[in-house]
Amino acid sequence: MAKSYLMDIGERLEATGLKNKNLEFLSDLTVEQFMALFESAAMLEPFSRTGLTLMQGRNLCSLFFQPSTRTRFSTEVAMQRLGGTVVTESSPAQNSSAAKGESLADHLITASCYSNVIALRHPDYDVVREALSYARVPVISCGWGNETHPTQGLLDLYTAYRTCGQSFEGLHVCLASPDLSRGRAAHSFAQGLARLGAQVTYFGLSSLPIPEIVKQKLNSLSGNVQVINDGSHQDFLDLLSQCDLCYFPGCCVPKDNPAARDDFLRSIKPFYLTLDECKKLSSGRQRPLGVMHALPRNSCEFDLAIDHSEHELYFKQMAYSVPIRMAIIAAQIGL
Ligand code: CP
Repeated sequence: MAKSYLMDIGERLEATGLKNKNLEFLSDLTVEQFMALFESAAMLEPFSRTGLTLMQGRNLCSLFFQPSTRTRFSTEVAMQRLGGTVVTESSPAQNSSAAKGESLADHLITASCYSNVIALRHPDYDVVREALSYARVPVISCGWGNETHPTQGLLDLYTAYRTCGQSFEGLHVCLASPDLSRGRAAHSFAQGLARLGAQVTYFGLSSLPIPEIVKQKLNSLSGNVQVINDGSHQDFLDLLSQCDLCYFPGCCVPKDNPAARDDFLRSIKPFYLTLDECKKLSSGRQRPLGVMHALPRNSCEFDLAIDHSEHELYFKQMAYSVPIRMAIIAAQIGL
């Protein structure tokens, strides 16, 4: 790779201001930091399936206290594509010393001895917040509690940046779910959108509202964010007629909580979107309505025929997750 290209990537990564920092909420980033991350990701994207040696000799330790496919795979692949190595524990509650009662703080001290960066998914944000200061290397949030999933938010923003043009001004995004109390992916996306000047409208249920801390973060941005609760399917379509993107954070309730899963699935009807509706909503527009989903999905959430249409963005999100996570890892470790 040309030395000047490497220097340009280094300059963009430095401009993120994330070296040796943790990223808890996307509301903490400035417009300039977002743009530096997107520009770094765009420069790293040509290497996201082949690799380069930016992180040679560095190691990522991944600890996932909740199930994951996409976030763990793409974070680990991102480190490998950067030329670094990975040690992983996908079931720490069973397989690590957590099973012998070790605290998260001691886990983070331990992982810090073996790595340059830690990727952590955990079900309880309060536990993470108390333990974070014990880590001696940066910790990447791969989803903490119901409140925050900033690297998912960044990959969603990067997908919008790559597919809708590079300006967020004038973009209107609907975030739709019958359970906004567990919509950490949507909340991270919303904070980035609001900071970058997009209009955000949540469509949810008053019985399962946005967590209080997320409301505070959104209010602190003084962006254009509204909430519509308890609307009908027609209300949903009327809203989408004004939107560029429809985002589904999906059902975050694991199978071992069947009552909450059933509640989600029972309430899904007003939110269900068909391919025919997408086509009608897109008629006469410059750009078709884009359908995004954090995944994994349930077949009852939207029409799977959208998979093979111009509206599908959820598989593209997964592909864009590698270059943006390469940028996040390299920014947090530093060159
Ligand atoms: N979107 C997301 O976080 O997916 P995984 O749970 O598969 O990591």
